[in-house]
Amino acid sequence: MGRIRNFCILAHIDHGKSTLADRFLELTGTVEKRKMREQYLDLHPLERERGITIKMQPVRMVWRPKFPISNSQFSINELISNENSRIENSLKIAKSKIENSDSGFILNLIDTPGHVDFTYEVSRALAAVEGALLLVDATQGVQAQTIANLHLALAQKLAIIPVINKIDLPSAQIEKTEQELCATLGVAQSEILRISAKTGAGVEELLRAVVEKIPSPAQFGRGPHSSALRALIFDLMYDPYQGVIAHVRIVEGRVGAHEKIFFFASGAAAEVAEVGSFGPQRVARPEISEGEIGYIATGIKELEQVRVGDTITNFKKVLPLPGYRDPMPMVYASVFPENQDQYEQLRDALQKLKLNDASLIFEPETGIASLGRGFRAGFLGMLHMEIVSERLRREYELSLVFSNPSVAFHVYRLAKTMESGTEEYVTVYSAMKMPDRREISRVEEPWVRGEIIAPSHFLGSLTTLVHERTGAIHETSPLAGERLLIRFDAPLREIIANFHDVLKSVSRGFASFSYAVEGYRPADVVRLDILVAGENVPAFSEIVPTAQAYAIGRVRAQKLKELLPREQFSVALQAQVGGRVLARETIPAMRKDVTGYLYGGDRTRKMKLWKKQQRGKKRLMARSRVNISPDVFLKMMKR
Ligand code: GTP
Repeated sequence: MGRIRNFCILAHIDHGKSTLADRFLELTGTVEKRKMREQYLDLHPLERERGITIKMQPVRMVWRPKFPISNSQFSINELISNENSRIENSLKIAKSKIENSDSGFILNLIDTPGHVDFTYEVSRALAAVEGALLLVDATQGVQAQTIANLHLALAQKLAIIPVINKIDLPSAQIEKTEQELCATLGVAQSEILRISAKTGAGVEELLRAVVEKIPSPAQFGRGPHSSALRALIFDLMYDPYQGVIAHVRIVEGRVGAHEKIFFFASGAAAEVAEVGSFGPQRVARPEISEGEIGYIATGIKELEQVRVGDTITNFKKVLPLPGYRDPMPMVYASVFPENQDQYEQLRDALQKLKLNDASLIFEPETGIASLGRGFRAGFLGMLHMEIVSERLRREYELSLVFSNPSVAFHVYRLAKTMESGTEEYVTVYSAMKMPDRREISRVEEPWVRGEIIAPSHFLGSLTTLVHERTGAIHETSPLAGERLLIRFDAPLREIIANFHDVLKSVSRGFASFSYAVEGYRPADVVRLDILVAGENVPAFSEIVPTAQAYAIGRVRAQKLKELLPREQFSVALQAQVGGRVLARETIPAMRKDVTGYLYGGDRTRKMKLWKKQQRGKKRLMARSRVNISPDVFLKMMKR
């Protein structure tokens, strides 16, 4: 165990994690040079296409340093303080040097996503390692997600190595970034390493720091306490042949193929099909043992039997590991298959996706008959929702309709309040489920505490933005290099409505932002309904601020008018709140020339035909419904 180092790279988006991982893979010879391609650990096609990491990816590397490193388990201080053990320890160091030069260090790296929507991935990776590299782009400085990730790592008591990246760029501001790191992290300047993940400068020194400064699992106090197996599941995936593959951190004991294992949470038992490590593809090994990160192919095909955070053991009497807190979805949306025959396929796809994306939650959607059968799903943010819908479409070939995304409102009802004297609320995730205005006593909505880091001359426009989003700034503190850390509160509803994009555009790309939900506060909101030809279309309903209902209603009615094709009869489009029409548009009927064949003659004949046509249209209007194609639904959802 003394030769194992488990660590991850934490950084704000685009600060160079995946590129640094590439250099590690090269230096350790994990990936052959001819097979090397940029951002090697971004295995998912969507990651490669968009250039962002959306999944954590472990990889095991064996590193044989050119110059031996004394294994830090035997520190110099220990030697000096204990005179008697001096000779014995010197021998141990010599022995460990020989061992290291023989077999090298085992470095288990987990590459993590940098976007705030994937924080749950980061937190799970942190529980599987003892140290983290905190990587900061020298041209960007400390960013909001850098600080958020640092707090996560500190909470796990991990060893942290601060690293400044991209020092090769002419625009690199190395000293300023150092000052910021010292101020925000409280580290000594001498601890900060400077590298270029692109050119490889300083990367070998960084690997030496990993070995010297990050404790081995034993030093960290993680096992071994018993010989029974205890393995923490930090991620899962599904293989059609080997069933559920658990990505694990072996905390205690060992496990090999064909052995019997149990899952604490579900009580399920299985015979191990295969164990191994990540290269980063799966590489089978005879066994994996304590301190290591690897995988266990369980052969299990029932997806609900295995979950992230559960403990795998071979001896039922040991205690389970602490596991993880459940993720807290920020945004909810209902999802329906365009073709109702694909309902079962959608369920199957969601189950498989959830296995690989523990932060996705879903349950069958009920009570919205007009859209057929579907699911209500919870996401960690808009990017997460976008990635899930894209994965469902591509990996499972499904055509889907998503409802308007919404936060979870607490809706207090009148009747119950009066009966019991105590207030009760129902959680409402979608406008379709919002009770009628007359039944509601009050509504609360989630608020976030946000942090923006930006150059100070943007303070004016950022203050305007936060105020426009009904938020309030409560702290601004200077960072190095004329930059500011701005702390503010705002409704989550406003944050999911494009806040990040607007922030980027008003700050010309210089501001970064992270947030966390902080609690519920009163909300002045109403349900805005859209009626097409007199009929309410639930999928178009939205929960909007009361003060903006009129303006939003008008925009929606106008947009729908542009999107819907003409019918034989005229179609009324109405935006309503609580039965009161706020805006109205009319799509005129298609006109057929019913008198064209008449040649001359008197006008009464024409009038007769027009009247007949009008009567027919009235009959049609009374009987017919407007069919709204999924395409129109999707276009209406897009803001
Ligand atoms: P996410 O996975 O999206 O969070 O990004 P990341 O942190 O993994 O960043 P990535 O490695 O994808 O790098 C972002 C961009 O910066 C890429 O275009 C890299 O080529 C570039 N880059 C990374 N490190 C360096 C560096 O040291 N010098 C220079 N010049 N460019 C770098």
